[in-house]
Amino acid sequence: MSSSEDQINQRVPQHVAIIMDGNGRWAKAQGLSRLEGHKQGAKRLRDVIRWARDAGIKQVSLYAFSTENWKRPKLEVAGLMTLMATMLPLEVPKMMEEGARLLTLGDTSKLPWLARKALQRAVKATQGNTSVDVILCLNYGGHQEIVEGIKTFCTTFSNEEEKQKALANLTDESFYVFLGRKDVLPVDLLIRTGGEKRISNFHLWDAAYAELYFSDTNWPAYTENDLKEALADFASRERRFGKTSEQIQGVTNE
Ligand code: FPP
Repeated sequence: MSSSEDQINQRVPQHVAIIMDGNGRWAKAQGLSRLEGHKQGAKRLRDVIRWARDAGIKQVSLYAFSTENWKRPKLEVAGLMTLMATMLPLEVPKMMEEGARLLTLGDTSKLPWLARKALQRAVKATQGNTSVDVILCLNYGGHQEIVEGIKTFCTTFSNEEEKQKALANLTDESFYVFLGRKDVLPVDLLIRTGGEKRISNFHLWDAAYAELYFSDTNWPAYTENDLKEALADFASRERRFGKTSEQIQGVTNE
């Protein structure tokens, strides 16, 4: 690969995280139920996998159900769980075709049995695929993930001396291990659809240096063109990771 190609590739985010917001508002505007909005939103899943893969994105994570979403009306929660149980199996052949590997983030043990089973089957069926990773974030919360990491850290060591030594040497990199997942890249680009401008407890650890992009489009109406606009915007940003612009542009050797 030439150095100019290399540079262009660096402008494609490796990990894009999406807050799929606006299902309810989209449905209301069409005179449909909120659940119909979620159903149409779920249909965007297969599109976004294809668009991401075609754009050269390695991982796309989707905020499908947060730790706070349990507070929604019981019927809506049940509807979302049923949607996962019924739609995921239908998506597996498409994921196989696209070479997409399904991963999950969040405490899926609390999901209803049917949804859990559908997830487990889809994860297993797609585990050998390598074109793009789709990370479904379910019963996921950024705070909870970090708290769980701390609990794991505190219960990992068999004696107090070992624990104190590990604590003294703890860094952000060594703590990452205690978050208990592998293969999740730092989020480069975090997109929220539906016009709101907040991150709602999503990827608090992984998105430390993410570029944020807010789209007014409601998730069920999201198109490849919307994603392309976000990617073009990302490509125009200078990511400095704490350094100066001069350092990034190589104007200075310091
Ligand atoms: C936010 O829109 C959306 C959610 C809380 C659920 C997202 C879930 C899906 C898109 C379906 C996932 C399905 C599968 C099969 C993985 P909102 O309801 O808060 O919209 P609003 O702000 O307009 O009310």
